[in-house]
Amino acid sequence: MDKKALIEKINKLKKEKNAIILAHCYQNIEIDLVADFVGDSLGLSQLASKTNADKIIFAGVYFMAETAKILNPAKKVYLPNISGCDMADMINLKQIKNFKADNPDTPVVCYINSTAAVKSECDICCTSSNAIEVVRSLKSDKVLFVPDKYLANWVEKNLKNVKITAYQGYCPTHYKISANDILNKKKEYPYAIVLSHPECKNEVTEISDFVGSTTQMMEYCKKSKEKEFIIATELGVAQRLQRDYADKKIIPISKNIFCPSMKENSLEDILYTLENENNEVKVDENIAKKAINCIDRMLKIM
Ligand code: 13P
Ligand code: SF4
Repeated sequence: MDKKALIEKINKLKKEKNAIILAHCYQNIEIDLVADFVGDSLGLSQLASKTNADKIIFAGVYFMAETAKILNPAKKVYLPNISGCDMADMINLKQIKNFKADNPDTPVVCYINSTAAVKSECDICCTSSNAIEVVRSLKSDKVLFVPDKYLANWVEKNLKNVKITAYQGYCPTHYKISANDILNKKKEYPYAIVLSHPECKNEVTEISDFVGSTTQMMEYCKKSKEKEFIIATELGVAQRLQRDYADKKIIPISKNIFCPSMKENSLEDILYTLENENNEVKVDENIAKKAINCIDRMLKIM
C-alpha cells in the first residue's frame, strides 16, 4: 500500500473507532502524519488525562501507554509494538522497596519513565519538563529520586538546600553523548547554541546553553532569534526541528543518538493495531489504584 492510502485508511479507522493516536517526539517522523498529538512525556500524559476518545493508540514506549491506561481505566490503550524504556526497566518493585527501606522517612519522586509498579510506591511523579517544580513542591530538604541519576543531579543543582539521594539508573541513549561531542561540534559551529536534555550526563548539561525537555527544547528553537542550534538529545527532536524551521540550522549531535525502542513503530504497525486491536495494555487494578495518586499529584501542580 502506498503512503497516501495507508494514511487515509488509518484516518478512516480512527474516526470509525473513536480512537486517537498519541506520539512521542522520538518516534519515527512519519508517525506525525497520522498522530493527533505529538509531544513530550508531560504533554502526552496531560492529553491522555483529558481525551474523550474510546481508544488510545500509543506510539511510544511501555511506561507511556501504562500511564495513559492508569489515567483512563475504562478506555482501551494499545501499544503497536511492546517496547520498553531501558531506563524504566533499571528499577523494579523489589528494588524501589529496598531503596525506600535504606532511606526511610524521605519523600520519593519518580520520573515518569518508570513502571506502574514503581510508581505505586512513590509519592509524586515528574517529567523532565517539571522535575524542578515537583521536587520544590515537596518543601522537603531531602528527597529520594528514581530512576534517573542524571536528571536527579540536574534538579539538585537547580535547587538550593535540597539533598537528593538518587537511584543509579540512566538512559543508555543519552548516556552516549559526551562533553567532547559538544566541544567538537562547537569547533565546527562556534556560534551555535547548545540545547541538551536533562537525561544527559552532567558533563553535557554543564556546558549547554539551555537544558530542557523535548518540547521545551523545541519551543526554545522556535522563539529564539539565533540561527544555529546543536541538539544534544534523541535524533527525532532534531529531525522535527529541521522539518519545522527550514530557516534555521539545526545540528543533531549525532545521527547515532537514537532510542531503538522508540523507533520500532511504523505506519503499517499503527494500521495493524487499529484493525486488529492487538497489544492492549493492562495494569493490575491494585497497582493502578496506588500509582494514580503520584501521577495525579503531578498533574495537579502543573
Ligand atoms: P521528555 O519527553 O520529557 O522530554 O523525556 C524524554 C524521554 O526520554 C522520554 O522517554
Ligand atoms: Fe527510555 Fe532513554 Fe529511550 Fe527515553 S530515550 S524511552 S529514557 S531509553
